[in-house]
Amino acid sequence: MNMLYEKILEAVAFIRKTTSFQPEFGIILGTGLGQLANEIQVEQTISYGDIPHFPVSTVQSHQGQLVFGILAGKKVVAMAGRFHYYEGYSMEQVTFPIRVLKFLGIRHLTISNAAGGTNPDYEAGDIVFVRDHVNLHAENPLRGPNDERLGPRFPDMLETYDRTVNAKALEIAQVHKIRAFEGVYVGLQGPNLETPAEYHFVHTIGGDLVGMSTIPEVIVARHMDLPVFVLSVVTNKCYPLSAIRVTTVDEVIKTAQKAEPKMRLIVKEILKLV
Ligand code: HPA
Repeated sequence: MNMLYEKILEAVAFIRKTTSFQPEFGIILGTGLGQLANEIQVEQTISYGDIPHFPVSTVQSHQGQLVFGILAGKKVVAMAGRFHYYEGYSMEQVTFPIRVLKFLGIRHLTISNAAGGTNPDYEAGDIVFVRDHVNLHAENPLRGPNDERLGPRFPDMLETYDRTVNAKALEIAQVHKIRAFEGVYVGLQGPNLETPAEYHFVHTIGGDLVGMSTIPEVIVARHMDLPVFVLSVVTNKCYPLSAIRVTTVDEVIKTAQKAEPKMRLIVKEILKLV
């Protein structure tokens, strides 16, 4: 037997023993987008390695702790460091923290990520609020026996992304003269970037963005009926094909870091509203 439910309860029990802080909002900080954690009035940090059953992050530019505290007047828990399937974790490990945050009592989850832009209107540094996705991961985090205490066997995905929040985010961006769009995120396993033919494919199937994270977390959040808001920073232009340049992880991180203040501003404004 898998015992996922029991593992979640053990992780939650450990966190509750460590802090009495009760977060209402969860935030996952993506590649190059960790600065937001420094703006949190920190009440408590807990290293992933200390939490029972939590995976430990390995990737460059990711830390590896839960940060509990106040941001924009709201009680938040931020994941500084996230897990990617390509690192070798199972889908259950990748999404385990989302389960734990939900059981800690968060009622809304914000996810940030760095992504390639397959919409010809997008430039590096643009912010995109995800309005839908196409899951091209070969494995699904909900595969296997379903535990009804966590969510339904066949979760509906019609209202996956919170439209009202996206509309507000677009307004905030406009007020602050930040270039921002709504778009469709296509999730692939990675870790290699895409070939030109693959970028073309992503564009052709309706994808505005392509990335290696987020979708497993979103599926698991929606399985538990947790509303999600996802923002991507376009770190490299991938369409038209003539615009593609060789992309290194350092460039991705640098571009994400440069765009990070815009993302931080939007997340804080959204927190005031949700
Ligand atoms: N492809 C996949 N993931 C990414 C990219 C990309 O071009 N850029 C940043 N993350």
